Amino acid sequence: MVFPKIDIDDMPKWEGDLAPLECIAIKDETHNVKSFTFRSKVDAWFEFLPGQHTTLFLNINDVSVMRTYTIASSPTHPHAITITNKLLENGTVTNWMHTHLKVGDCIDALNIGGSFGIAFDQPRDKVLFMSGGSGITPMLSMSRYLIDLSIDSDIVFLHNAQTPRDLIAKDEIDFYEQQQSNFNRHYICDNADDDWPGERGLLSLTMLNNLVSDIIEREVYCCGPKAYMDNVKSILNEIGFDMAHYHQESFDIESSTAQQNMAEPDKFIAHEEGESIEVVEYNITLQETGKTIKCGSNTNILVAIQKEGIVTPFACSMGMCGTCRTKMIEGKVDMDAQGGLLKSHEAEGYILTCCSHPESDLVLEL
Ligand code: FES
Repeated sequence: MVFPKIDIDDMPKWEGDLAPLECIAIKDETHNVKSFTFRSKVDAWFEFLPGQHTTLFLNINDVSVMRTYTIASSPTHPHAITITNKLLENGTVTNWMHTHLKVGDCIDALNIGGSFGIAFDQPRDKVLFMSGGSGITPMLSMSRYLIDLSIDSDIVFLHNAQTPRDLIAKDEIDFYEQQQSNFNRHYICDNADDDWPGERGLLSLTMLNNLVSDIIEREVYCCGPKAYMDNVKSILNEIGFDMAHYHQESFDIESSTAQQNMAEPDKFIAHEEGESIEVVEYNITLQETGKTIKCGSNTNILVAIQKEGIVTPFACSMGMCGTCRTKMIEGKVDMDAQGGLLKSHEAEGYILTCCSHPESDLVLEL
């Protein structure tokens, strides 16, 4: 066997449209969670920040579907990315991956995006990673990153699972706890036998104070089901935590209405109907499509495009995933991006159509 000499400067950087992803490993994490590792078909390397995500583009039963998944691996391992996901009752894409995707299969994906992640610009050297269920994936990426780079931060990793058998990456997290003096982990299970040594039940103020007594000094990152994050936020508000140091991301995109609608493009989300504000109608020119459409100032641009029967990528429909990103050549929009657009991309003129309303006539690259 000849080991390749790797010089990253000689390799192309992966971007979604560069080449498909090839599945190179599948690992059972728990009884219903798997990790899928992909590399680029053209030996490109992946540049991303811990906590970012990519959107897979699949054809299932002749229907095009897209799903956004956080990357669980670390950017310090740039030759592959790993997606860890859980079987869901109605999870079309995740369930297809669990039952059909094999090592050697190739799938398309969109470029990596999202701005949930380590607050590089305002770091506190103490961090608290809080996750519920599959919300652990960005916390894995961030922990792996900080540990790989030997960054001198004090990490508390607090994870909630339904039962002990639902704990994802437990061996790895336990290993960090044993080997890293700056890493402490706590598990909380909703239900557990009497011999479970950790906490159980719903996260409470008392529990959090006991487990993380210096929480007030930490940068907090939170990801999980909405109810979990709402509970965390209400506890933090109760203790007077400075929410400028709180960051959250919902992982629950798979079940969102918008993602379900990917398979049924005739269904559209109603936006701001019945509002009494004056509505101005603008022209939006889609340069590559060669069409000009109308869009009211109270309608989001993605909806206006879809109503014309024009197919354009989208996934979360909430300004989070970046899938609907497009370049605005001319015009002005009111955009409420929820982390789905990097500041650098915004500076380059990109917008997210799913959460933007026109404030003038527009020309889009689309
Ligand atoms: S569809 Fe996800 S940001 Fe627009």
